Amino acid sequence: MKPIHIGLLGVGTVGGGTYTVLKRNHEEIARRAGRDIVITMIADKDLEKARKLADPSVIVTDNAHEITTHPDIDIVVELIGGQTIAKDLILEAIAHGKHVVTANKALLANHGTEIFAVARAKGAIVAFEAAVAGGIPIIKALREGLTANRITWIAGIINGTANFILSEMREKGLSFAQVLEQAQKLGYAEADPTYDIEGIDAAHKITLMSAIAFGIPVQFSKVYTEGITQLTGEDIRYAEELGYRIKLLGITKRVEKGIELRVHPTLIPMRRLIANVEGVMNAVVVKGDAVGATLYYGAGAGSEPTASAVIADLVDVTRMQTADPMHRVPTLSFQPDLLSDTPVIPMEEVETAYYMRMQVIDKPGVMADITRIVADYNISISALIQKEASADSNTVSIIMLTHLTVEKNINAAIVRIETLSVVTGKVIRIRIEELKD
Ligand code: HSE
Repeated sequence: MKPIHIGLLGVGTVGGGTYTVLKRNHEEIARRAGRDIVITMIADKDLEKARKLADPSVIVTDNAHEITTHPDIDIVVELIGGQTIAKDLILEAIAHGKHVVTANKALLANHGTEIFAVARAKGAIVAFEAAVAGGIPIIKALREGLTANRITWIAGIINGTANFILSEMREKGLSFAQVLEQAQKLGYAEADPTYDIEGIDAAHKITLMSAIAFGIPVQFSKVYTEGITQLTGEDIRYAEELGYRIKLLGITKRVEKGIELRVHPTLIPMRRLIANVEGVMNAVVVKGDAVGATLYYGAGAGSEPTASAVIADLVDVTRMQTADPMHRVPTLSFQPDLLSDTPVIPMEEVETAYYMRMQVIDKPGVMADITRIVADYNISISALIQKEASADSNTVSIIMLTHLTVEKNINAAIVRIETLSVVTGKVIRIRIEELKD
């Protein structure tokens, strides 16, 4: 059978890895796909870099449109990133009858609904395994391996940079700012690390997983997102004392009122396997009603791990492209005309447990005042610790863990606690997830 022709847009870290792995494992990949998969065209602004990577037979250009419109290209691999040029190129490729493989989570989380609809109308496949958790085949697992299940929740460490920062803060007792600088020097964090540390990158990924898990449209605008910039070593240590680790989690859950979709620092029990995922590694737990909890672990970024996911998509598209669209695996696992309009519930309505820490003046009645307020909002305390005052201070830390509580009640209680004259500064609030039911 004639080879399938790939046009590669972008030879950065992932593009370079894709070229290298495809070349190195080309024979085994062809035995799996049933035909050769060959990169025949590459586009990159840096022509020299592209030429250095590619064999002489590959056409190298700095004009990506030459690839998206070229009659001989079967699949376009978009590894440029961003949401403007990448979107135009993907739509152009689809308009010219090509299938698309992309790692662009920001683009799909924001514009997936439009792109998938255009692709569907043209009979094109858009595959994006590399967009979520790098080399971990989590899209495949959710879309196919777990298809028998009613999925109840997903919780994932899906940003390696943030996880590296939290691991280093805990293990070495360093501050957020110190570790961020180190991560940037090591090349983990982007020069502008906002997407990593503010939880935006994780929010893109959990948006995509939520859509596939629950058969809802991709809705990035509905994700509640809170990053790790405000976390202190103190809270990481207190969490440890209480048997918890703090992780930046992407969480999506099916609850009675709708779908929860959120990213925030989270206390999780230290004994859970996912609590022990350290450094830049990623892990995702998926709970299905039939299978129970399943855990997927691996490299969430990097050249060859992400290339592994890109090439898996290339093999899938190669196998599926001759099937009529009704017999292909649907993009979001559910048939596109059967997506549900189950609402994403506002964060104020989410029910979870909480860790709170407050600094108070050490005098009679303080604990009573605080617990009174908490009781007024129907919040049940599950643990309460008061730390001894240091010699040079007349304030003490109170750490309180709660049972399940509606977020708006915690928020209202915090506002009132902060008005007490005996409470100094802000109340720290971090959500807790037990990750068991
Ligand atoms: N910046 C991401 C991370 C990798 O740190 O995990 C690509 O999604």
